[in-house]
Amino acid sequence: MTEFKRRIAVTGGAGFIGSNLLLYLVPKYPDYLFVNIDSLTYAGNLKNLVSLEDSPSYRFERIDIREREAVTACFERYRIDSVIHLAAESHVDRSIDGPLLFVETNVLGTASLLDAALTRYRADKRFRFLHVSTDEVYGSLGATGYFTETTPFSPNSPYSASKAAADHLVRAYHVTYGLDTVTTNCSNNYGPYQFPEKLIPLMFRNARDRLKLPVYGDGSNVRDWLYVEDHCRALDIVFHKGLSGETYNIGGHNEITNLELVGKICTLLDSIIGGGPREKLIEFVTDRPGHDHRYAIDATKIEKELGWTPDVSFDEGLARTIRWYLDNEEWLEECISGEYQNYYEKMYADR
Ligand code: NAD
Ligand code: DAU
Repeated sequence: MTEFKRRIAVTGGAGFIGSNLLLYLVPKYPDYLFVNIDSLTYAGNLKNLVSLEDSPSYRFERIDIREREAVTACFERYRIDSVIHLAAESHVDRSIDGPLLFVETNVLGTASLLDAALTRYRADKRFRFLHVSTDEVYGSLGATGYFTETTPFSPNSPYSASKAAADHLVRAYHVTYGLDTVTTNCSNNYGPYQFPEKLIPLMFRNARDRLKLPVYGDGSNVRDWLYVEDHCRALDIVFHKGLSGETYNIGGHNEITNLELVGKICTLLDSIIGGGPREKLIEFVTDRPGHDHRYAIDATKIEKELGWTPDVSFDEGLARTIRWYLDNEEWLEECISGEYQNYYEKMYADR
């Protein structure tokens, strides 16, 4: 076996953030082995990673993280010494429609990975487990204030509750067994390869095709957006420099209401492809149950202790993202054909 400096299992590597992360890390660390462990749900797409297929330091394994024996065997086969854990059911609306899958994947899946990790850790004390989590574990903010690493957990959706449970399990494995863990809690990501169930690509597609733009409630909910590349840089830094047992909040200082954001997408598309004004396609629809009002991250800890800051401004990142979706029509068409039609019908037809 080639002697790699590190042997890292990246779970959920075929999803939105996982793909961006692998496309960033594999060329950056040619002396590391990266094993992408992904079961390829509707959200996983290996086409994102074709450019890595011939890389000697990249492998793909189609494995469900809930299958502990398969995970353990894979870790043994590659002598895995670290995990970057992204695999999850990630969409809040789907969690409201079917919470149990979220518990199975996000809670039991994480438990199964931790167990496999512990077995490897006992053989190799360099083992590190980076758990990629969300700011949604902290619940919802009013008009002021920020989430810090000490904000008490108060998850409101089945998705965020399942992620919070996973965060607790990771913490427990550190305290009880001494497993070297680090956890990140990040705000809303956007950028290339995001599945069009999420706000930005969904609104892009609908605005492009002149369909209605379904804004939940009155559109005053606030999200703190971070360009996915900035998140990937942060994960790289936390993986290499984060202190064992610590958690780090990651956010972009980019608070904006949903209504303003959809307006920006309309204006950008009007100016690039014409045919506006698209803002008139906005329709206020029935709100998401338990809809968190505002997320905002205080990223002082990662900025001061690990030297990370976001690079990409929201206007620049949004323009890049819109350009990417315009240039990758085929990718988007594949996502929205087939099963997506049923999903869209179910979620939006009577809203
Ligand atoms: P995604 O839905 O785009 O991708 C999830 C990936 O996990 C897919 O490739 C899917 O096939 C895989 N997967 C799902 N269930 C699996 C299972 N049982 N076994 C193996 N693989 C499985 O998600 P994303 O947006 O890329 O998010 C990645 C991670 O980052 C998640 O843990 C999410 O909670 C977290 N996160 C996301 C955001 C965001 O804004 N998207 C922000 C903060 C944190
Ligand atoms: O904060 C981090 C989280 O961000 C991640 O942990 C989740 O995995 C990710 O999905 C995201 O969750 P949100 O629920 O914030 O993202 P979403 O894109 O689904 O929605 C963003 C906002 O837009 C939210 O306030 C709901 C609203 N919305 C969303 C959709 C899909 C609409 O108004 N209309 C829509 O059609």
